[in-house]
This record gives sequence, C-alpha cells and structure tokens, in this order.
Amino acid sequence: MAPPDAPDPPAAPSPADADRLEAQARLASLGMIAAGVAHELSNPLGYVQSNNQFLRTLVDEVLAGGCDPAKARAALEEARGILAENADGIRRMVGITSELRRVARAPAEPKPCDLEEAIDRAVTLAHNALKYKATVVKEYGHPGEVMADEGRLAQVFVNLLVNAAQAIPERGEVRLGTSADGGFAVATCADTGGGMAPDVLARLWDPFFTTKPAGVGTGLGLWIVRRFVEGAGGRVEVQSEVGRGTTFSIRLPLAAP
Ligand SMILES: Nc1ncnc2c1ncn2[C@@H]1O[C@H](COP(=O)(O)OP(=O)(O)OP(=O)(O)O)[C@@H](O)[C@H]1O
Ligand SMILES: [Mg+2]
Repeated sequence: MAPPDAPDPPAAPSPADADRLEAQARLASLGMIAAGVAHELSNPLGYVQSNNQFLRTLVDEVLAGGCDPAKARAALEEARGILAENADGIRRMVGITSELRRVARAPAEPKPCDLEEAIDRAVTLAHNALKYKATVVKEYGHPGEVMADEGRLAQVFVNLLVNAAQAIPERGEVRLGTSADGGFAVATCADTGGGMAPDVLARLWDPFFTTKPAGVGTGLGLWIVRRFVEGAGGRVEVQSEVGRGTTFSIRLPLAAP
C-alpha cells in the first residue's frame, strides 16, 4: 500500500511517448558514454601521435645523413618498434570505437548473443564512471547465449554500472555475476553503495524519476533497462538495503535452452 500522501503514480506512457522517451534516453546515455570513450581514446591517440612525430624525425635524420648503412639499419630497427607500438594503439582505438558503434546502433536486431561479452563491453564503456569508485569483480558462470540485441544489452549494463558507481559514496565494489536458471540466463549487478529507501524503490521504474541533481540524472536509466529487458522477453528484479547496497538481477531467455 502506498502511504496516503504519496503522489499518484504517473500514467504509463503511450506507445508513441515511450518511443520518444527511448530516443531521449539513448541520447542521454550515449552522451555519457561518449565522454568516457573520448577519454579512453585520448591516451592511445596521444602516443600514436607523438610516435609519429618521432618517426618523421628519424626518417629525416636518415635521409639527411646520406646512406651510412649501419646508422640507417639502427634507425629502421627503432622505427619497427615504434610502428608495433602504434599498431597496438590503433587496435585499441578501433576496439573502443567498434564497441561504441554496437551500442549506438538502432533499431534493435535480436539474435543469440553472449551475455558475458555484453557485460564486458559495458564495463569498458562505463570505465570512466567506475574507475575511481569501484573495484569490479566478475563471477561468470557461462550460462550461454541469450536472445537479445547486443547493443541494447550492453546499454542495460552500462546503465546499471553507472547507477552503481553513482550510489557508492567513496570507494566500493561492484560484483557482476552470471548463471543459468532453467531456460534463462541470470545476470546480477551488486553494489556496495548507499542502497534505497522504500519510497525510492516504489518509484524506481518510473520514467524521469531521479534523486540526482539536475544535469546528473534524467531518470530514464532504469526505465530503459526495464523496457529493453522486457522487450527481449526477460525480467528485472531489485533488492536493496539502505547503507548496504543494491543488487539488480536481469533474467533473459537463453537462445538455446
Ligand atoms: N544502484 C543503485 N543504488 C542506489 N540507488 C539507485 C541505484 N540505481 C538507481 N538508484 C536510484 O534510482 C533512481 C533512478 O535511477 P535511473 O537510472 O532510472 O535514473 P538516474 O540514474 O537518476 O538518471 P539517468 O540514469 O537517466 O542518468 C536514481 O536517481 C537513484 O535514486
Ligand atoms: Mg541511472
């Protein structure tokens, strides 16, 4: 029973409103992800750029020094090491941008996808939010593939991970688990954050419900989590205790039970 002074629950959005909210939520979380991605790219980009400058100097030196074979050979060997380092950096950047592309893609294309890969991708994308807040512990039980859109699936976990990081006051832990249960895969995201009081829990899934300051939260994160998970035939559950933390469980049908 809601307490007598509780506000009326908002009416469920119409399908057209729901599509508009979904687009808005995607933009909001893509903005957040983009900031993290830009940060992740800046490191490899920085060293690829300075390596490139160094290579140019090296080449200029060899060309200016005529063709002393010993010197030219030493320079080429040095250049080979630098090129290998650049190749690593470029591989990292390609990896990061392809993660972003998978998440950004619309519309949904449900197909069998690896739940743990989606979680790993989300951890990469939410790295910026998590790194000073939480140690991430993975306890994977390899439940198998689930039937879902891989971008949306990653988005679900990005939203849960960012919430977890934001709920942790200084430093804590986020445990990510997977297991199989009947024809379902179950993923859990458990944080050691501040937890939720019953009045927050009661409104958790409402679009635009947020306890965060303007500019931090739009209140669409969990709404989109539920929409994506239920859209894939799954269910979301939450358990929370004030001062101890929160656990979200995502249950999704296995692609081949
Ligand atoms: N792991 C968590 N621990 C504690 N409170 C949480 C947690 N996850 C969500 N909440 C509470 O639920 C509210 C709604 O979460 P939701 O993700 O929908 O929106 P938001 O995080 O406020 O904003 P957005 O996700 O749009 O940036 C949050 O403002 C917060 O009060
Ligand atoms: Mg959120």
